[in-house]
Amino acid sequence: MRTRVGIVGAGPAGLLLSLLLAEHGIDSVIVETRSRAAIEETIRAGVLEHGTVETLRQYGVGDRALAEGARHDGIELRFGGQGHRIDFANLVGRSVWLYPQHDVLKDLIAARLAAGADIRFECGDVALRDVTSDRPVIAFTEADGTAVELECDVVAGCDGSAGISRHTIPDAARTDYFRTYPFGWFGVLVEAPPSAPELIYAHSERGFALVSTRTPTVQRLYFQCDPDEDAAAWSDDRIWAELQARVAGDGFSLAEGPIFQRGVIPMRSYVCEPMRYGRLFLAGDAAHTVPPTGAKGLNLAVADVLVLARALDSYYATGSTALLDSYSDVASRRVWRAQHFSWWMTSMLHTDPAGSAFDVRRQLGELESVTGSTAGSTYLAEAYTGWPVEF
Ligand code: FAD
Ligand code: PHB
Repeated sequence: MRTRVGIVGAGPAGLLLSLLLAEHGIDSVIVETRSRAAIEETIRAGVLEHGTVETLRQYGVGDRALAEGARHDGIELRFGGQGHRIDFANLVGRSVWLYPQHDVLKDLIAARLAAGADIRFECGDVALRDVTSDRPVIAFTEADGTAVELECDVVAGCDGSAGISRHTIPDAARTDYFRTYPFGWFGVLVEAPPSAPELIYAHSERGFALVSTRTPTVQRLYFQCDPDEDAAAWSDDRIWAELQARVAGDGFSLAEGPIFQRGVIPMRSYVCEPMRYGRLFLAGDAAHTVPPTGAKGLNLAVADVLVLARALDSYYATGSTALLDSYSDVASRRVWRAQHFSWWMTSMLHTDPAGSAFDVRRQLGELESVTGSTAGSTYLAEAYTGWPVEF
């Protein structure tokens, strides 16, 4: 088999890339290990930046996000038992949208299949070969056991943090920048009405908590926990008591309801550089991971893909490799800004288990500085709603 761009992974990065390439008349094939149902059922991100929604709308896959998602013009930072609003709309004239990642994926998959895109789900033994030649190959086994060799001009590694693409780059040709955190997030989905009109990022001496939302009847809540915590060992009562304790103060409390999904999410920061090796280009979580506190992961994947699609379009239109050659540098500038923002939000809001009373007071001072100053709040609002994509 042959295609121009072979895409590994049908997550947000891979699906959006195939859509943008199709807009420019560039054919692609997506090779994915999971089933369509599994992809559409996995609960992950919730926050779309202003520019991400604009991109979905521009390419004809934003209707449902705009109709069923909710625009949020700010967030609340909660500390010392009180809420402090960061007013995005007033500070930077931008907003974010609450619309779940699995719904973005449903919209993208439906649009790509309706347009006749070639997406191979449930593939096995996916491997990359000859990526430094001008005919790189994605080798895989189809769901029915057929072995396939897909010859490409270019391979896009969009296979997420557990994928194989980046491991194709020899150790000597890449640098891994890595940080782990001594905590994870205990995440739950609950049947309950929203407790607040906007997301709440709460600092407390018991640790961080995040109050997010999905629909008028389903809420998404998280609290900082030990990274090895066993989610099954917690009773619903204990989960609610922990969440309530972390947001308590000034009479506020969470609307409770049945917990129907739970799990522990690890936290790490990771960047692989360069994001290119020969004719292999990495995009999204395949090249970088951020802790979820800044809500940046999905949005960064979208930004990478915008830069990569433009570079591929320029290559096919003019034969020039200039934009492909600068892809890694251009994309990684935004990646490092997002790495800093995600790390900063994480370290300002979470309790370090090995920390001291000094650290907690220092965090409260920092939160006062951010919420008490237009300059501080504006930085947060600018970063959270998303910087313009630079090409
Ligand atoms: P992925 O979504 O991981 O997709 C990669 C795809 O590749 C998968 O479908 C996988 O099955 C497939 N694959 C893997 N290996 C192979 C292989 N060998 N061959 C073929 N296919 C393969 N981000 C935000 O922006 N905002 C948020 O609010 C937010 N909240 C989050 C909350 C949680 C709990 C979590 C876990 C993440 C959150 N994120 C958030 C991060 C976001 O979900 C990821 O950054 C995003 O999914 C990255 O997209 P991707 O396409 O790069 O990778
Ligand atoms: C979510 O709703 O899942 C969510 C929201 C904000 C974050 C992370 C996750 O920072």
